[in-house]
Amino acid sequence: LQRVGILTGGGDCSGLNAVIRAVTRTAIIQYGAEVLGLENGFDGLIFGRTMRLTTGNTKDILTLGGTILGTTNKGNPFAYREFDEDGHITVRDLSAQAMDTFTSQGLDCLFVVGGEGTLELAHKFQQMGMPVVGIPKTIDNDLEGTDYTFGFQTAVQVACDAMDRLHTTGRSHDRVMILEVMGRNAGWIALEAGLAGGAHIILIPEIPYNLDNVVAKIQHRIRGKSPFSIIMVAEGAREEGGERITQSTATTRLQGVEQLGGVGFHLACRIRERIPLEVRTTVLGHIQRGGSPTAFDRVLGTRLGAAAVDAAARGDFGTMVALKTPDIVLVPLSELAGLCRTVPVDHQLIRAAEATGVNLGRGAM
Ligand code: F6P
Repeated sequence: LQRVGILTGGGDCSGLNAVIRAVTRTAIIQYGAEVLGLENGFDGLIFGRTMRLTTGNTKDILTLGGTILGTTNKGNPFAYREFDEDGHITVRDLSAQAMDTFTSQGLDCLFVVGGEGTLELAHKFQQMGMPVVGIPKTIDNDLEGTDYTFGFQTAVQVACDAMDRLHTTGRSHDRVMILEVMGRNAGWIALEAGLAGGAHIILIPEIPYNLDNVVAKIQHRIRGKSPFSIIMVAEGAREEGGERITQSTATTRLQGVEQLGGVGFHLACRIRERIPLEVRTTVLGHIQRGGSPTAFDRVLGTRLGAAAVDAAARGDFGTMVALKTPDIVLVPLSELAGLCRTVPVDHQLIRAAEATGVNLGRGAM
C-alpha cells in the first residue's frame, strides 16, 4: 500500500473518528502508506476535496464524537442533486468524475465508512474498477453481515441514561412517560435501551402494537399501586392496522428546519384518550448520534479500522470488515446490497423482555 483514501458517508455516529484514527495509524505504522481523507463523503471524491491524515492530526480524536472528515447523506455520485437559485433541482451522474479523482490522486484503495446506502455506493464503485473496503456504521445496528455496528452501543447508553432520568420524574408525578428513540426500520436501540432502562412497555417497528394491550398494561400498573409507566418507542413503530408515522409525516417543518419525532406524540394522544393520567413525550433525536463513544464503540471502531487496512494490503477488495464475535471477518459487499437487519420477532432479547414482564404491544402484561 502506498496511498490510501478514506471517507465517511451518511448520518454520523459516535466512533467514526476512532475508525479514521485506526485506519490512518495502521496504514502509516504498519505499511508506510500515505493517507488521504476525503471531505464530506463522496462529495470529497467528486470534487477532489481532501486533507492529508497523519498520526499527528489524528492523535486526539479517539474520544471525539462526529467525524473530522465531515459527512453528507445527500451526495450520491450516481445521481448528484444540485439546486439552482430558484430552487430547481438538476440530477447528474458524477461517478466518472469521482473515478477521475481517485486516479489523479494516485490512490491504491478507498475505505468507505458508512451504512447501507453508502456501502451500496461503495459496491457500485468497486464494480467500476475502484478497489474499496467497506466499514459498517450506523447507530441503528441494522446492517446485515455484522453482529454490531459501532455507534449503536453509544446510542443505547444515551437512551438508557434518558430512561433513568424519566423514571424518577415519571414516578414523582404518576405520569406516563414516553421516550422516542431512533430506529426507522429496526428496533434494536429501543429494545436494548428499553431493557437496560427498565421500560414497562417497548414498541418497535417489527411488532405493530395493539393499543388495547398497551392501555391494559398501564391500567394493570395503576391497579397495582405503581401508577406511573415508562414507554420506550422506536421512531418506526406503528399501531396494528394503523399507518406508520414515518419521518416525513412526523417531521414538522418550520422555515426549512426539520424536527424529528412523531410516533411518540401520536402514542401520547392515543393513550391520553383512554387513561386518566398525564402523558409526556420526549424525543431523544440526534443526542443519540453525538458525543464521545463508549469504550465498546472505541474498541470496535479501532478493530474495524485496523482490519480494513490489513484487508486492503492483502488485496481483499469489494469486501466489508465485520464483527462476527469474537472475530473480525470479511463479508463481500455484493451480499449486503439493500438488506436491512431487523429484529426477528422471536429474538432472545424479545423473549427476555416478555419473560420479565415487559409489554411489547402484543399481549404480554
Ligand atoms: O439511519 C440512522 C438514523 O439515525 C435514523 O434512525 C434516523 O431516522 C435518521 O438517521 C435521521 O437522520 P437525519 O436527521 O440525519 O436525516
